[in-house]
Amino acid sequence: MKLSEKARMCTLSPMRKFTPYAMAAEKAGKKIYKLNIGQPDIETPPEFFDAVRNFSQKVLAYANSQGIEPLQDAVVDYYHRIGVEYTKQDILITTGGSEALQILFLSILDPGSEVIVPEPFYANYNTFIKAAGGVVRPLSTIPEEDYNYANAEKLEALINENTRAIAIINPQNPTGNVLTEEELRRIADVAKKHDLYLICDEVYREFVYDTDDVLCAGRLRDMDENVVIIDSVSKRFSACGARIGMLISRNKGLMAQALKFCQGRLCTATLDQVGAAALYKVGPEYFAKVRDEYRRRRDLCYAKLTAIPGVVCAKPMGAFYVMAKLPIDNAESFQQYLLTEFEDNGETVMVSPATGFYATPGKGLNEVRIAYVLKEKDLGRAMDLLAMAIDRYNHR
Ligand SMILES: Cc1ncc(COP(=O)(O)O)c(C=O)c1O
Repeated sequence: MKLSEKARMCTLSPMRKFTPYAMAAEKAGKKIYKLNIGQPDIETPPEFFDAVRNFSQKVLAYANSQGIEPLQDAVVDYYHRIGVEYTKQDILITTGGSEALQILFLSILDPGSEVIVPEPFYANYNTFIKAAGGVVRPLSTIPEEDYNYANAEKLEALINENTRAIAIINPQNPTGNVLTEEELRRIADVAKKHDLYLICDEVYREFVYDTDDVLCAGRLRDMDENVVIIDSVSKRFSACGARIGMLISRNKGLMAQALKFCQGRLCTATLDQVGAAALYKVGPEYFAKVRDEYRRRRDLCYAKLTAIPGVVCAKPMGAFYVMAKLPIDNAESFQQYLLTEFEDNGETVMVSPATGFYATPGKGLNEVRIAYVLKEKDLGRAMDLLAMAIDRYNHR
């Protein structure tokens, strides 16, 4: 029987494809410090679990396709607090930011449509865009330039009659780049001039370490037709397992099409929505505390990385990842080595080999993405293991 060309063109996730090796290593008794996946160890606010416990309806029913009202209200309110005015009609609740991206690309791409994405980028964009029949048109960025991509000339050089959108992640996964207001405006101007969607994935909005805030693209009111926000509770409230995200736009035509896909998949999990609505009750002190915690982790991770001879990386300004070129031949072989051969006192570390974060073939071969999602003590040990493993790998 035949398989689709779309499926064939996609690859396994670089964050998860080594999981079978990790499970085997754990079964054999190894402890693994997991820096491969953006799964924070910060506790989910108890408001989530309280709300789920207090759910008193006798039937666990389907929710509305666009999401339950208390959650939509909570999201509208949250945006109001950060100075962005949205109404419920501008919001579709989805199964994570992941489904928001899938529904968005299904709604705006035809076979061969192109999406400009600064690379390296969150690897699943490759999967979501290809699955919708689209093509990723990468804009290459490098650590020596702090992964800056706010360059109108470079963006315009990639635009052709097939281009439908510019997709940016701000703060950026995996590079930690954060756009200034002026840079965001520069990119927005290009999108407006060429009548393109400006997809702004802001799931890491609260995680910025060297500036006070990141400008939400929803504030660019001359861009109402162009801007689409991808948002999620996963990182903001350390609630990745809740699987609640949102697709947000004032473009009514787009939202009407996206609703068809939302209705097709019926709804997002009702109980997860109930819990997520309660999460929005946490105040600014929660974000300040979490931000400080990640800033310390960022500083530790960056200091340990740059102390390893031969490593090239840029200090991340936001999100909770750092990209690093390692002095090794191949990051996938290295990852396999980490899980199958290397150990120190029964412990090893896991990272994400970076080729999957690029669309340009051959890029990222000796790069990894590190997620600084562990407590400082564990993170410090994990980074020491990484340094030790690089040395031993190169002296095998
Ligand atoms: C940039 C970015 N967008 C979207 C997602 C999807 O997250 P979720 O589906 O958990 O909301 C992630 C997850 O890591 C991400 O890093």
